[in-house]
Amino acid sequence: MDRFAHITDLPALLRAMPKAELHVHIEGTLEPELIFELARRNGIALKYDSVEALRAAYAFTDLQSFLDIYYAGASVLLHEQDFHDLGVAYFRRAADDHIVHAELFFDPQTHTERGVDIGVVIRGLSRALETAQRELGISGALILCFLRHLSEEDAFATLEQALPYREHFIGVGLDSSERGHPPEKFQRVFARCRELGLHLVAHAGEEGPAQYIHDALDLLHVQRIDHGVRCIDDPALMQRLARRRIPLTVCPLSNQKLQVYPDLRDHCLATLLEHGLCVTINSDDPAYFGGYLNTNFLATFEALPQLRAHHAWQLAANSFEASFVDLATKSAWLKQLGEAFDVAG
Ligand code: ADE
Ligand code: ZN
Repeated sequence: MDRFAHITDLPALLRAMPKAELHVHIEGTLEPELIFELARRNGIALKYDSVEALRAAYAFTDLQSFLDIYYAGASVLLHEQDFHDLGVAYFRRAADDHIVHAELFFDPQTHTERGVDIGVVIRGLSRALETAQRELGISGALILCFLRHLSEEDAFATLEQALPYREHFIGVGLDSSERGHPPEKFQRVFARCRELGLHLVAHAGEEGPAQYIHDALDLLHVQRIDHGVRCIDDPALMQRLARRRIPLTVCPLSNQKLQVYPDLRDHCLATLLEHGLCVTINSDDPAYFGGYLNTNFLATFEALPQLRAHHAWQLAANSFEASFVDLATKSAWLKQLGEAFDVAG
């Protein structure tokens, strides 16, 4: 018997089903309207005259062309309240998308380089997490990302600055320009984070080769791979990821906008799912890439019509499995997921 045979309105189900988001950079949720509001509040001059002019600049040719604009946008964030407001704005959208849990990346070096204290960043975001739990019933966690275009020494210094706030973040990640900055560059700092009992993740195989995914697993000992789509070039790696249930936090609209897959119809996501990989869908930098999590789900299912209701269930279940929460919480979410499918039309 097909458990999903009664489902006729798949887009409605994609919107309504409970889900977790595991790959979203909080600085990438900074909408142009909030950039202008914070610039005004903080007396910062912007290069652009209007929200429309800023949005018009969001035409990216690759990862680096995006990162240049993304780091410039983040320069309006100065005070604890700014980080709080940014976080709460994300969680309000997350609530609309029926996200029950979000693990947020943040890039402290983007802020400390400008003279903003790391405590300002972490306290502001932590307060946003408390607000989200209290007002929206969404749980959240923070993952501190090291910028891979900077040195490992710089990453160590950042870790040192963050340690007084150890209870406020659950893990570390690795982001920014991938090409030319392989995982091995950060082997020692990840080893230290492992000793500290932090969860470990890394961007790998977004623009960089499949080998970087092997290296993130073998040298950094990460528990999840962010993006990871280039594993499609390496069948042995796909088998390795599937057998070990190493989650991939895939970001379809990001891949489209950064020209990793200029046409979503060519995206490897359905193939990865069919090969048994623990794939999840995420929004990466939704303010820059044209949509939050449900927009990513809808665009992906539209572009890849072989994706059916059982894939939707699998993607949401994978997002719970891949999250860094306890098993009892995961079971409760899976039950909620089953109920959403039972009542769907
Ligand atoms: N920082 C923010 N978004 C990123 C991405 N897609 N890849 C690498 N670093 C990032
Ligand atoms: Zn990312």
